[in-house]
Parts: sequence; structure tokens; C-alpha cells
Amino acid sequence: MRTLNVELAERSYPIRIGAGLVGDPALILPYLKTKRVAVITNDVVGPLYLAPFVAGLQAQGLQVTEIVLPDGEANKDWPTLNLIFDGLLAARCDRSTTLIALGGGVVGDMVGFAAATYQRGVPFIQVPTTLLSQVDSSVGGKTAINHPLGKNMIGAFYQPRLVLADTRVLNTLPDRELRAGLAEVIKYGLIRDLPFLEWIESHLDRLLAREPEALAEAVERSCRNKAEVVAADETEQGERATLNLGHTFGHAIETGMGYGEWLHGEAVAAGTIMAADLSRRMGWLGDADVARIRLIHERAGLPVVGPTLGAERYLELMSHDKKVSDGTLRLVLLKGLGRAVISAEATPAQMRASIEACCA
Ligand code: NAD
Ligand code: GLY
Repeated sequence: MRTLNVELAERSYPIRIGAGLVGDPALILPYLKTKRVAVITNDVVGPLYLAPFVAGLQAQGLQVTEIVLPDGEANKDWPTLNLIFDGLLAARCDRSTTLIALGGGVVGDMVGFAAATYQRGVPFIQVPTTLLSQVDSSVGGKTAINHPLGKNMIGAFYQPRLVLADTRVLNTLPDRELRAGLAEVIKYGLIRDLPFLEWIESHLDRLLAREPEALAEAVERSCRNKAEVVAADETEQGERATLNLGHTFGHAIETGMGYGEWLHGEAVAAGTIMAADLSRRMGWLGDADVARIRLIHERAGLPVVGPTLGAERYLELMSHDKKVSDGTLRLVLLKGLGRAVISAEATPAQMRASIEACCA
């Protein structure tokens, strides 16, 4: 088992990574407030992993409430969030109940938000089951639901007490979801870790073949990057925004196409190509850099061309981005491979040109 820490003073917590961790409830016990827990999952992950997970917890003498949500990004909304509160209240879960999110980023983001607000805050644990959630969303305490006008617009910063990333559960993940997770892995290389980008380039075939050691290494190196950024800038006053490379364009794709149509990682991939193209127009990346970024996404089986929403629609959707401040849109761009910046320098005409160049 590999262990990393997210250093946030009294709210610090470990990330444990390894094969078979879901089957070891002893890893969870030290992080519970009392013997009361609620495990929240969805109707895809539940049939695969819920029963043995709950049985393991019960064997340790825990009282477990189970809540199963409908699957999917389209259900990352108020009515589904309310199902969590319904389940917690019906089971009379009190303030010392620990919520456990068993699922991908959608379940993790919603359970985190529920934990931040149920009875003004209860502890929670992330048990991420997709590559994307293991390398990104389960770490760092961003929790949210979507609004029809924008992705992740309603939420809170609220850190978990533990992240348990079991690489064995990735074996049941559909190929398309595995590839979507690779978009966020590639992101860390592009924004701040050139040696990691080179490692991904040389290990991509092993990652796609789900070799356990390669996956564990990718999860660990991704989480190490994320933990460093979060420790330096928990509430995104500056550096943390670089984790959103490709996300402003990507969120426009997700919202514009309807939630769930494009996977988050797919939208981030196409958005990253747009951000790279824009960085080239700013004179910050060369043609060879952009070609290299495109190639690694293509090799990972990710889309490198965005949907044709029309440049004006993209710009309209991008104007809702959380990085808009005082009416000015700031974008994460690259000033070289492994070096992200947050910039308000791109003009709407330059953005429009990149969108048009990178859409079908
Ligand atoms: P997801 O949670 O929708 O999971 C993808 C699909 O895989 C779902 O159908 C899910 O039920 C299924 N699944 C999960 N684990 C499985 C397993 N082991 N075997 C088989 N099927 C499995 O999507 P995701 O890509 O994990 O997460 C995307 C979400 O994460 C988006 O809502 C995005 O906004 C959010 N996100 C949040 C952060 C953050 O910092 N909080 C960062 C990145 C992304
Ligand atoms: N996924 C971006 C962040 O956690 O800040």
C-alpha cells in the first residue's frame, strides 16, 4: 500500500492507494467518530461492491445505513442530493455519523456536499472507484452539484478524513471511463510535472492495459501533484486554478451538450487541445508542443476535437466560469510543457479562433 498525506494542518488526511483496499475495513476504523456510518453509492457501483463492503464494516461492529443514488452526471443535482438527506434523516443519522462515498466523482462530489451541510457538517471518507476520482476528484475537498446554467456551481470546500483508492476496482471500469480518467492524469504532467508527462508517454500502453503497477504509479504521482497544490492553495486563491487546464472550454462542452453526453474527462481533453492552441496563438507554445499534446490525447483514445456548439455559444457558456472575476475571464494556459499560468490576456477574438480551429 502507498500512502500520501494532504497537509492541511489540523484537517490533514491520508490518501491510501493499493489493490484490494475496499476489502479491508480496518483501514477505515481509525477515521470514524463513532460506530455509525452511512455508505452512499449509486445503482451501477452498488451491485458490484456495496454488499461486501458493508458486510466488512458490519463485521467490525459498525451500524451501517445504505443509500443508493441513480447513476450519472445528469443526476448530480438537487433532487438526487436530497435523496441523501432523505436517507440520513429516515435512518436518524446524527452529527457523529461518518458518510462514506463509494463511487466515482459524481458520487464523491455529492456526498462531500451532503457531508458539508447535513446537520451543519459531518465527517466523510472518499472511496473513489473510477480512475478520474482516484487521481483527482476525491482529493482536495471540492464538493458540488450542477446547475442547468453551469457545472459544479453549487457547492462547498469540505475536506474528507481519508481517501481510500483501491486500484483493483478499476478492473470493472468501462474502457471509455478509464480513458476519461487519463485526461486528468495527463493534465498534471502538462501543468506542473514534465517528468510525469514523459513517464505517461512511455507507460501509456501499460495504463490502457490496466497493469496494476502502472495504474498505482499514475494514481500516486497524480495525487502527489494534487496534494501539493491543495496544500499550497486550498480555496483556489491562485495556483489551484491551474488544475483546471482545459476545464473552462470543457465545462462549456459539458453544459452545452447536456450533462452526461460528453464525459467530464473527454470534455477536459478537447478543452485542453483548445487551451494548447490558444497558448500557441499567444506565442507561448510551439507547433511541436501542441502536436505532442494532441498526440498523447489521441493515443489515450480521447477526443481532440470539440463539438460544434458555435464559438459564440462556447464564449457565452465560458462567461459563467468560476474563474470570472469582475467580468474578466481568466484561463489556464501553458507557457511551456509542465508550466501552467492563469491569464486574462487572451482576447475574445483569439479564443474564438482557437474554438473554431478545434471544433468539428
Ligand atoms: P462518474 O462518477 O459518473 O463515474 C463514471 C461511471 O463509471 C458511472 O457510470 C459510474 O457509476 C461508473 N463506475 C464507477 N466506478 C466503477 C467501477 N469501479 N466499475 C464500473 N463502473 C464504475 O464519473 P467520474 O469520471 O468518476 O467523475 C466525474 C465527476 O467528477 C464530474 O462530475 C466532475 O465534475 C467531477 N470532478 C470533480 C473534481 C473535484 O475536484 N471535486 C475534479 C474532477 C472532476
Ligand atoms: N479539479 C480541480 C480542483 O480540485 O481544484
